[in-house]
Amino acid sequence: MKIILGPSSKELGERISQINGLEKVPVASKTFPDGEAYVRLEGNVQNQDVCIVQTTSPPQDIRLMQLAFIANAAKRNGAKKAIAIVPYLAYARQDKIFLQGETVSIEVIARMLNVAGVDELITVNVHQENALSKFPFPAKSISAISLLGEYFVQRGFKKAFALAPDKGAMYIADEAKKVLKGENGHLEKERDRYTGQVKIAKKQFDVKGATAIVFDDIISTGGTIVNAARILKDLGASRIFAACVHPLLVGDAQERILDAGVEEIIGTDSVPSEVSKVTLAPLISKEIRSRQSG
Ligand code: R5P
Repeated sequence: MKIILGPSSKELGERISQINGLEKVPVASKTFPDGEAYVRLEGNVQNQDVCIVQTTSPPQDIRLMQLAFIANAAKRNGAKKAIAIVPYLAYARQDKIFLQGETVSIEVIARMLNVAGVDELITVNVHQENALSKFPFPAKSISAISLLGEYFVQRGFKKAFALAPDKGAMYIADEAKKVLKGENGHLEKERDRYTGQVKIAKKQFDVKGATAIVFDDIISTGGTIVNAARILKDLGASRIFAACVHPLLVGDAQERILDAGVEEIIGTDSVPSEVSKVTLAPLISKEIRSRQSG
């Protein structure tokens, strides 16, 4: 098996190749003056199973095209199997029709990757598991929450309260609780489907004087975390942190979150950024090893 270093996840790919001792295949990439993507494999993949590591955080459309082109190039050059390792899976939030006239975006992406030559997909904390059912080949999501929890334990925050900003993220707060060994809970969130505005109702938690960590899969505009942090502050939490797998941090999200009283934002290298203090490399490496031995 070889590992192809997609342009959006070169460092993560390098880390995985080091842990698993996999030979790397670099990718030359460029964007033409008109905006079109170009990729070329700089290594031999003949008769190999290949893992393509390529996250699809913004700019997601070009990164998706690069992924499709890389998979296709791998197959054209004799690869036997192409496993797409896509830590952040773009469009997974549109896994169904919410309003009349929409499409199921992730289904279109899934079919495109299939046609391009992808045989299997591994992602991390996909927003909706249902999104994976739209892929016409095996697609799996693995969870990085225990890695985030361990990070906080190492920083001395054992027993911190793990808060999920909505019911859907409660599985995340449950996984975090297993590592932090403190209490947890969830808020009730409502998002306006037209404006994207978030409303979170206040709830009672016993966090007075305690450290609380808001855990979520994605931080995008930061609206969710800002609301949750305000509630924790009102309830008297002494220290508030925000943790997520995919720190998209669109626009001034980071600033707004810190202004709302969050001491620090911790994310993973699913989306490389200055808050990506936890690497997904050991988690993804384990998943790849299970395929090598299987
Ligand atoms: C949505 O349900 C997700 O789990 C996140 O809570 C959401 O994507 C965060 O978005 P934002 O940062 O824009 O509030």
